[in-house]
Amino acid sequence: MSANPIVTVPCDVKDLALADAGKRRTEWAFQSMPVLQTIRKQFIKTQPLAGIRIAACLHVTSETANLMITLRDGGADIVLCASNPLSTQDDVAATLVRDYNIPTYAIKGESNESYYSHISAALDHKPQITMDDGCDLVTIMHKERRELLEGVLGGTEETTTGVIRLHAMSKDGVLRYPVIAINDAMTKHFFDNRYGTGQSTIDGILRATNVLLAGLNVVVCGYGWCGRGVATRARGLGSNVIVTEVDPVKALEAVMDGYRVMSMQEAAAIGDIFITVTGNKGVLARDDFEKMKNGAIVCNSGHFNVEIDLEALGKMASSRRQVRDFVEEYAMRDGRRIYVLGEGRLINLCSAEGHPASVMDMSFANQALSVELVVKNHAKMEKRVYPVPEDIDRHVARMKLEAMGVKIDRLTPEQEKYLGSWSEGT
Ligand SMILES: NC(=O)c1ccc[n+]([C@@H]2O[C@H](COP(=O)([O-])OP(=O)(O)OC[C@H]3O[C@@H](n4cnc5c(N)ncnc54)[C@H](O)[C@@H]3O)[C@@H](O)[C@H]2O)c1
Repeated sequence: MSANPIVTVPCDVKDLALADAGKRRTEWAFQSMPVLQTIRKQFIKTQPLAGIRIAACLHVTSETANLMITLRDGGADIVLCASNPLSTQDDVAATLVRDYNIPTYAIKGESNESYYSHISAALDHKPQITMDDGCDLVTIMHKERRELLEGVLGGTEETTTGVIRLHAMSKDGVLRYPVIAINDAMTKHFFDNRYGTGQSTIDGILRATNVLLAGLNVVVCGYGWCGRGVATRARGLGSNVIVTEVDPVKALEAVMDGYRVMSMQEAAAIGDIFITVTGNKGVLARDDFEKMKNGAIVCNSGHFNVEIDLEALGKMASSRRQVRDFVEEYAMRDGRRIYVLGEGRLINLCSAEGHPASVMDMSFANQALSVELVVKNHAKMEKRVYPVPEDIDRHVARMKLEAMGVKIDRLTPEQEKYLGSWSEGT
């Protein structure tokens, strides 16, 4: 046990006595984050973020802790709050405060009121850089804390849903500072959304329910980057995977990937487990609950808890009870029971630990390098959404391959010339 912690930074975390476990977990994750390790070493030498105030609103996990430590070691004056009321790892929040002196505001299972008061506390830091996962800092600043906008150099956004909002703000001409769309980096969504969400969503369902997936009809709603990952992993465990989509191209892709594709109304009647991962709202609604089998399990891995219409389900139920951690039983008036996991919030972060560190390594490498880029270039940047520059994206991929000991070929000068010229022979 560490001796009597003297906490010198502001915070609101569950219990500082959890810090030892959080520190061990954070160090464990860091071992699987070789790209971030390299960036941290560089940051320690070059101090690219010296004195820059950063507010980060991210899932408070061991991987995020390592990003926070990297930014702090690069000179940043950073505060962290949760980007979801159920995704916080309380032991990690405790170690960030006690062992790394990073002000942290996050408690797993906190009320909506506490959640927003934590975001407000992070904004009181008067950030020059915002780092969002779901656009909460950006939204609240633009709606309620406009006095802070003036001091912001730029920001980053981690997830698909946040990027969609930012594009809407940019299109309407209301976005007041440049934001880099981390999600859109290839080394982010090809891996984090697909393999990270794929594995950890299944992990969340298994930890919450301990069901045998083999032989069950698993309905994956949305065949985007995350949906593909979830579908592949569910199939790997022997489930009969059904996909629902609204985009004809994605639906066709799912068909050719060998899945059954059908409307939600058809799927509702035969699914055993439903996983929404669309970024949309009301994907599972009253009509669908009416058709579901007794014992159907519903959960969500999309960013917000609006994909499953829980209000409608609540109205259809005669009673509700918690049957296991993260499993709530809704008893329908006709005698059927429907089980909702993790209150319809991101199941991979509610009942499991979110994405594995080795995949967050790339997402957070993009975050760290993009923050450095904004600090260097903000004066030249416009108030709009920027992609992660391709050289950063490819650099992250090369660093990851190198860490994995994988060598690849390089174009010869002749090949480069051939590919870059229209006049070379056939
Ligand atoms: N759980 C996690 O840790 C995690 C990680 C990354 C992203 N996300 C979130 O997951 C969500 C999906 O992200 P993505 O990168 O896969 O997005 P995406 O845009 O690649 O895919 C979303 C898909 O859902 C489909 N869709 C939209 N409405 C639908 C509906 N009503 N029914 C069926 N399909 C519908 C779209 O056509 C699209 O193909 C977002 O909210 C994102 O922020 C979660």
